[in-house]
Amino acid sequence: MFTEVLEKAFNEQLKWEIYSAYLYIGMAAYFEEKSLDGFAHWFKAQAAEELMHASKFYKFILERGGKVILEEIPKPPFGFSTPFEVFEYALNHEKEVTKRINDLMELAKEEKDNASQIFLQWFITEQVEEEASFNNIVEKLKIAGDNLQSLVFLDKELSQRPLDLNQIFLLTKA
Ligand code: FEO
Repeated sequence: MFTEVLEKAFNEQLKWEIYSAYLYIGMAAYFEEKSLDGFAHWFKAQAAEELMHASKFYKFILERGGKVILEEIPKPPFGFSTPFEVFEYALNHEKEVTKRINDLMELAKEEKDNASQIFLQWFITEQVEEEASFNNIVEKLKIAGDNLQSLVFLDKELSQRPLDLNQIFLLTKA
């Protein structure tokens, strides 16, 4: 059984994962408006991945006999000026998510909840990957600077990211 304090904290993280998807859908729209369709596609794939993360929390909360309680999702920021600004914001957002996952792990240890610690281990590894992939693009954008050709090249590269919508259907019982 979940303790009340863990149930609350896991629901808070469920909200954060859904917020991440919401944030990245907004960023996809920013790029789509600018006809940078590869960047937009990359953020749509990222949003789908965040919903997959959310679905893992959803499933785990229920499996532990907890209640899924959906909280209000804040309005994501908008009005970014450059692709670099977007990715820099997103990277900082991922760093915040990492911090929250680490805090959750500390809480699970305090509560002596072994199952939660094993569950969170996947997210700790995932966050290393998440930060690295955002950081990689931030660095490429720094090199590209104002060079339009480099931006178009990067747009093409980002369009190759696989987008597997099936992964968000972990929400189903099957
Ligand atoms: Fe679900 Fe990008 O962390």
